[in-house]
Amino acid sequence: MKALVVYYSRDGHTREAARRIAEALGADLDEVIDRKNRKGILGFLRAGYDATRGKTTEIAFEKDPAEYDLVVVGSPVWNGRVTPAIRTYLLKNREKIKKAAFFATCAGRKGKILEQMRELYGGEVIAETIMKRDEIEEGAKEFVEALKSAVHS
Ligand SMILES: Cc1cc2nc3c(=O)[nH]c(=O)nc-3n(C[C@H](O)[C@H](O)[C@H](O)COP(=O)(O)O)c2cc1C
Repeated sequence: MKALVVYYSRDGHTREAARRIAEALGADLDEVIDRKNRKGILGFLRAGYDATRGKTTEIAFEKDPAEYDLVVVGSPVWNGRVTPAIRTYLLKNREKIKKAAFFATCAGRKGKILEQMRELYGGEVIAETIMKRDEIEEGAKEFVEALKSAVHS
């Protein structure tokens, strides 16, 4: 099974999770870039606002998800919600993704991000999880186990 792990990360935690998941699965890795400046206190405030309002944004990414049997999509939790970058990615690519799995990283308040991701995609989701940013290693390991057993069942 050809798999792609695609993620957005502002501060590196979701990138670290994505890297571990891709390595364990032998999957390709692709980073979604948000063209909007999310740095600094203003960027932080705008980020939360944009996530809460369900805004899309301008993004860049490299790999074509249509070339994969499984696309694993990762996002940080922002105000209990999906990031604008991953919202935009899912809306743009929903028709191209054959099968999906979702993961998110957070500080401790999970919110409704997974429901949102499922709704934005609308297709088959074989596994999903939210991991705390200080438990990325264990979280990624458990998620990969769940993914592997979902793929083989
Ligand atoms: C704008 C903003 C809003 C956030 N809102 C939440 C939240 O609602 N719940 C939570 O647990 N963590 C929240 N966080 C923390 C991030 O979800 C957490 O640090 C995550 O691991 C960051 O991923 P990253 O390092 O890949 O950007 C927020 C962070 C930012 C920047």
